[in-house]
Amino acid sequence: MPPRKIIIDTDPGQDDAVAILLALASPEDIDLLGITAVAGNVPLALTQKNARIVCELAGRPDVKVFAGCDAPMKRKLITAEHVHGKTGLDGPVMEDPTMPLQEQHGVDFIIETLRAEAPGTVTLCPIGPLTNIATAFERAPDIMDRVQEIVLMGGAYFEVGNITPSAEFNIYVDPEAAKIVFSSGAPLTVMPLDVTHKALTTKPRIDAFRSMHSRVGDMVAEWTDFFERFDMEKYGSEGAPLHDPCTIAYLIEPQLFQGRHINVEIETQSDLTLGMTVADWWRVTDRPANAMFMKDIDASGFYALLAARLARL
Ligand code: RIB
Ligand code: CA
Repeated sequence: MPPRKIIIDTDPGQDDAVAILLALASPEDIDLLGITAVAGNVPLALTQKNARIVCELAGRPDVKVFAGCDAPMKRKLITAEHVHGKTGLDGPVMEDPTMPLQEQHGVDFIIETLRAEAPGTVTLCPIGPLTNIATAFERAPDIMDRVQEIVLMGGAYFEVGNITPSAEFNIYVDPEAAKIVFSSGAPLTVMPLDVTHKALTTKPRIDAFRSMHSRVGDMVAEWTDFFERFDMEKYGSEGAPLHDPCTIAYLIEPQLFQGRHINVEIETQSDLTLGMTVADWWRVTDRPANAMFMKDIDASGFYALLAARLARL
């Protein structure tokens, strides 16, 4: 099987960084065509810089990194420095990147790539707010049925919200964008908090990164040490959910995940439940299924995959 052609759309973010590293460590499974940065955890100026920092950490200054949208489609940007720190990659001190940022806008790269590659051969992996993806779909509707699959981190149902009582951060930041993506008709696989909250960074799992005695292993351990303090305080859990790498792990070992193909709609009107992913898990409506909504993960298998692949870098 040839490696899967993907574009990662991201707002690094420590967990985004681990997702990018996992993709770059898996050339037999993943052909990373480019990385498009979006405003989310921190402003765009930082997410595009952080994406390049991560590529250089992986020894891949050749990866094409693009800056995309710097604000949601219709709302003011909400960021998450309280979770990720003011740089978005707090934990270790990181050098500024020297690799170039691509001139082309990230949205144009997404459109151009989907038009240039054969239909059904490019997978989009959005792991931040969906602004870039939705803007590309609005600007070039012809690309929607050229997408092989969208594998995104976002949403929540049983786990409810993490930024409001009813909404997960990536969807909440740009609910209008999420509505466009969830109604695009493109094959959609969703990694909500319901599954990511079962992939906790417990001490033995982080120690496995430290025991690599590599710069990558040390950085990942320091990022997770920083990133997990917020969730451990909030949830009283023994670690933090490593959200975004679940998308890449799914592309490599889909059998690690279980879910249901159901209808998922996005709340864009109510102030109380704005950004909620209204998942018809029990199929009580006749709304057509539009998403493979994941609920369970083999967490040990996920961390074993992560450790094995990151040890390659
Ligand atoms: O809610 C978790 C998501 O929001 C993750 O993608 C994290 O990086 C933040 O963007
Ligand atoms: Ca993210």
